[in-house]
Amino acid sequence: MTTFHRLASSVCLFCLKVIGYISNTMPLPKSGSIPSPCWAVRYMLQKAFGNDKLSKLEFLTQFYHNDGLFCLDNKIYIFDQKLAQAAINKLEKGAEHYLNDSPLKDTFLGSSQKSPETRRAVASLFRKTSIEERASWIFEDTKRICSKIRLKSLKSAKDNMKLFLMAGTETTASSIPVIFSLLNDFPDIQQELRDEVENRWTEILTEPTTSLPKIESMMKEVLRLYPIAPFISRQNNVPVNLGNIYLDQHSDVIIFTWGIHRSPYHWKDSKVFKPFRFLGMESLQSNMYIPFGAGSRVCIGQHLAWIELRLVIANLLHEFRFSKNPATSDLKFVVDWVHAVVHPDKDMIFSLENVEHD
Ligand code: HEM
Repeated sequence: MTTFHRLASSVCLFCLKVIGYISNTMPLPKSGSIPSPCWAVRYMLQKAFGNDKLSKLEFLTQFYHNDGLFCLDNKIYIFDQKLAQAAINKLEKGAEHYLNDSPLKDTFLGSSQKSPETRRAVASLFRKTSIEERASWIFEDTKRICSKIRLKSLKSAKDNMKLFLMAGTETTASSIPVIFSLLNDFPDIQQELRDEVENRWTEILTEPTTSLPKIESMMKEVLRLYPIAPFISRQNNVPVNLGNIYLDQHSDVIIFTWGIHRSPYHWKDSKVFKPFRFLGMESLQSNMYIPFGAGSRVCIGQHLAWIELRLVIANLLHEFRFSKNPATSDLKFVVDWVHAVVHPDKDMIFSLENVEHD
């Protein structure tokens, strides 16, 4: 049944596109408007994908790949890297409006954008690379930041704390099961990464920022294929022209990271997990790879997250050999649309075997 509805949606979308081209009644973005699936297609998509909104969006992304964007349920989804960059640059100030309407209002309002000075101070905390170095001055800096925040208002302080608590834990915590689930599927890769850890174990213990190129490449690949924050959003305060696309005031613009990261037009074998894809790759075209967002609202904790993940993975690989457990063989990753994070649809159970050390 599902396959039938998928096929029917494809046929319907294709016909709509052809009719649009011929009659020019539904012009494509090059002439200024944004394609949107009609109600019949939406109905069939609902039948085909049910509540699995992410699969629905991925399906539409494939269909509209030439356009780089589409509109669904009044939200504009952008998955073309250049358009995404242009949108981020032009709509920087809008995130606040989006969050105003979100159930997480309290969590996000009063965040760093409201107090740029605090943002800079907090950013400096997290951009330091050495944990020891950070530890030596973290207390003093935190005190300074807290007193600045307190001066602004207690509410602002509370909001900042909540934001950091959620943004700093949910994301890294959600990445770890995804990483280990993939490593269970590829035991040889798991062992190769373990070898890298064992070769540098003494260094890791003394310097937590020790470079682990294979593990880092694998982490990048996991966040490419499963960007834990599968989209970021902006809203325009004033009408905006994005290239030749006109955006009404207060449009909800979703930069669809998941779609950009899986686009066959940007990535070779885009849906295949290639853990060493990034090995030796010096630089990336930044807007092709945005697991931490982009622009002035880019994730403030990305460097800390990288260190945390690297250390957690290294430690776990050093201690245990992981393998699949039948209890979670049918596990799927789903999106929590309220918190905008990807996570497993049920508790993940791994089988563990101790790694013996001499
Ligand atoms: C794997 C881990 C993480 C991922 C994938 C991630 C991803 C993101 C993304 C996509 C955004 C939105 C950026 C944008 O709109 O352009 C964001 C914002 C943010 N993240 Fe992270 N994050 C991670 C870890 C952390 C950690 C460890 C912290 C803090 C300790 C943190 C703190 C924040 C904060 C405060 C914001 C809001 C910044 C602002 O609006 O100005 N994140 N993160």
